[in-house]
Amino acid sequence: MHPMLTIAIRAARKAGNLIAKHYEMPDSVETSQKGANDFVTNVDREAEQMIIEIIRKSYPKHTIISEECGELIGEEHDMQWVVDPLDGTTNFVKRLPHFAVSIAFRIKGRTEVAVVYDPMRNELFSAVRGQGAQLNGYRLRGASGRELDGAILATGFPFKAKQHADTYIKILGKLFNRCSDFRRTGSAALDLAYLAAGRVDGFFEIGLKPWDFLGGELLVREAGGIVSDFTGDHNYMTSGNIVAGSPRVVRELLSEMRDELTESLKR
Ligand code: IPD
Ligand code: CA
Ligand code: CA
Ligand code: CA
Repeated sequence: MHPMLTIAIRAARKAGNLIAKHYEMPDSVETSQKGANDFVTNVDREAEQMIIEIIRKSYPKHTIISEECGELIGEEHDMQWVVDPLDGTTNFVKRLPHFAVSIAFRIKGRTEVAVVYDPMRNELFSAVRGQGAQLNGYRLRGASGRELDGAILATGFPFKAKQHADTYIKILGKLFNRCSDFRRTGSAALDLAYLAAGRVDGFFEIGLKPWDFLGGELLVREAGGIVSDFTGDHNYMTSGNIVAGSPRVVRELLSEMRDELTESLKR
């Protein structure tokens, strides 16, 4: 097995088990607010520390970028771990059992290894660049088929960037005329993993952060899908505006969205 995959799996499982344990003990969860509609708990932070410790033990010189603690610059800046210790914090706080740990390992900005782990269902999604994506050891090819007509689309509402609400709702309306239905699960990492597994057929969201999507992005690509920003480009590392699906679904999504995009969403 790829040595970084071994470490990513070890860290994701250990952190996931900690999250699942706290889920069963709601009194042990302390929630605070980071911004409007934006929450963090002691469990996000404990899981993050656990992951950092495991990575640091094997790769003390690598750089780690993680949601709650920011960037820990190591001597080897080209070797980067991008971590979301708990993707779906709002679900976790509301005791809705749908959240995950996401870990991506990158060399010079290219993702080599990805793990998204759902501790409540014991589902481990993993991918190594060029070697395919897997769910609990079974090959995934879910993101390769389908068209927009009749598709099930996953999305996230722009709840932290409500200036985009009107545009978002217009896009939703247009897509609703084409697709079969939407899912808003509350975990972007799992949305992308589910796309890789064929449980949904497309995904789009405004303003994600690299730790939300880098793990899922490799899963989608290795399962036959593509990922782009809202204009068909690859500027999503900075904008966080993501569209994903099979090449055909992405092409059709982009063409439905095109006329609705404000200037700031074209970047
Ligand atoms: C959030 C989830 C959610 C998405 C948000 C993310 P967090 O991550 O992925 O589905 O809609 O944009 O911020 O904060 O729970 O790790
Ligand atoms: Ca968060
Ligand atoms: Ca996240
Ligand atoms: Ca998070």
